[in-house]
Amino acid sequence: MLLRRRSEKIDALSKVPLFGALSQRQLDLIAKEADEVEVEAGRVLAHQGGLGREFLLIAEGKARVERDGTVLARLGPGDFFGEMSLIDGKPRSASVIADAPMVLLVVHASSFATLLDTVPALRRKVLATLCERLRAADAALAARN
Ligand code: CMP
Repeated sequence: MLLRRRSEKIDALSKVPLFGALSQRQLDLIAKEADEVEVEAGRVLAHQGGLGREFLLIAEGKARVERDGTVLARLGPGDFFGEMSLIDGKPRSASVIADAPMVLLVVHASSFATLLDTVPALRRKVLATLCERLRAADAALAARN
């Protein structure tokens, strides 16, 4: 049963573009640290201003990122969130709310730190995504001015 679950998680991970370049061993390391969780539509997955304890990867479903009631981004399969608070130790920058039933891979803070140290491709991808989000935020700001 455990093996089946692990291989299912690896299967889910390998479909995520973020993990396309990872070796089987690296996928296995991540799968070992991740819990698969199903949530219903409407569930608040991260609370703006709250404490961040988890990094979450979307295997199925979709969610929106909201700050002060404004939608900043929409996330779907292969996207992740919750990395900011784990990296800088500050409160959640935004709320993330499920827009549909979802399947999530949840990595707890200490495991996330270990994974960033042991899977350089994950570290690079998280950094690249932070850059992408900053560029999108800059572009949105410029478009308003
Ligand atoms: P964190 O601050 O831990 O919790 C809320 C999460 O929402 C944050 O990490 C990011 O993963 C995500 N997030 C915040 N702002 C944006 C944005 N502008 N675009 C996409 N995702 C975001």
